Amino acid sequence: MKTVQLESFKPGQLWLDDRGEHISAHGGGILQYKETYYWYGEDNSSGYLNNVGVSCYSSSDLYNWKYEGVALKQEDMPEELQGKNNGRVERPKVIFNSKTKKFVMWMHAERSGYAFSSAGVAISDNPTGPFEFLFYDRPVLFEQEEGFDEHTNEKELGNSFRDMHIFVDDVDSNGDGVNDAYVFYSSEGNWTMYIVRLNAEYTWIDLPETDKRVRPQCTKEDLGKVWSRQFIRKMREAPTPFKYKDKYYVITSACTGWKPNQAEYAVADTPLGDYIVLGDPCVGDVDKTTFQSQSTFVLPINEESGKFIYIGDRWTPDELGKSPYVWLPLEIDENGNIEIKWQDEWKLEDLKV
Ligand code: DGJ
Repeated sequence: MKTVQLESFKPGQLWLDDRGEHISAHGGGILQYKETYYWYGEDNSSGYLNNVGVSCYSSSDLYNWKYEGVALKQEDMPEELQGKNNGRVERPKVIFNSKTKKFVMWMHAERSGYAFSSAGVAISDNPTGPFEFLFYDRPVLFEQEEGFDEHTNEKELGNSFRDMHIFVDDVDSNGDGVNDAYVFYSSEGNWTMYIVRLNAEYTWIDLPETDKRVRPQCTKEDLGKVWSRQFIRKMREAPTPFKYKDKYYVITSACTGWKPNQAEYAVADTPLGDYIVLGDPCVGDVDKTTFQSQSTFVLPINEESGKFIYIGDRWTPDELGKSPYVWLPLEIDENGNIEIKWQDEWKLEDLKV
């Protein structure tokens, strides 16, 4: 089928791939590898539970996307995470490890009821997959003042792992030959956000493996060194970190299920924080719903001059696979203030000026 070549972004509208089907890559992220952009996300095309896995699309211009298939197939995941057994993958992100040359995928591995709440990790030699699922686990075991979250059995399994994002820095602070990477996620039953530094392979957290703890969890002794608690008891979701001029930014949403709410952005001097909340990044957003979307990624277009693309999902839970995307220009001024403004239609040239 011959599809129309797209030449602009139309936020909130259906977005057709090269097959003429609405792109299903929700809660997604973009990886730029060589000259190509890869968009990974939840394949919700067959519904909430029967999701087929993590989809992958490729593009050279960000408007026209070729369907590359299912990068991580549900059938290659553990039984308990398969759609037929109430399993589901949310907010997958893929990064490239320059040392191992592997593509590494992290995801929020879940089951209906949101008690499973674990990190899933998969790797591949190719950007389009197939990804091999390695394991699921929880990165931190920490008893907070209010005690452990019972719904997710934190006491036994570690602190819950839900909405997530992986951020790769442009520095190698410990000289292990690979740039530092961090996982951001909602924890403590969504009450508090955690940030944890990853190991040199990006396949787990940055703690030495021991015979006793093959996949160690961070504890309170590691707090402030390889992990931190941010937005404590503030119930923030949808972490979307990025960097601009040596400052670390993160956009988050409030916690209202599939309903959109007002975003906030925060800034810090180091990836682990502490983050200071600066306010709502949206300008002219009359109903204060992040232009009816929830953040999932910020894509740098021209980092030097503060030009980025804000990427969010406009969830339609009755037909999750048809949820539109909201891609909007995101600009940062010299003082570090972020502005996201609504556009019915726009082009990359609008950002570059
Ligand atoms: C909001 C989260 O950001 C989404 O990823 C999803 O988990 C929904 N909640 C489920 O209600």
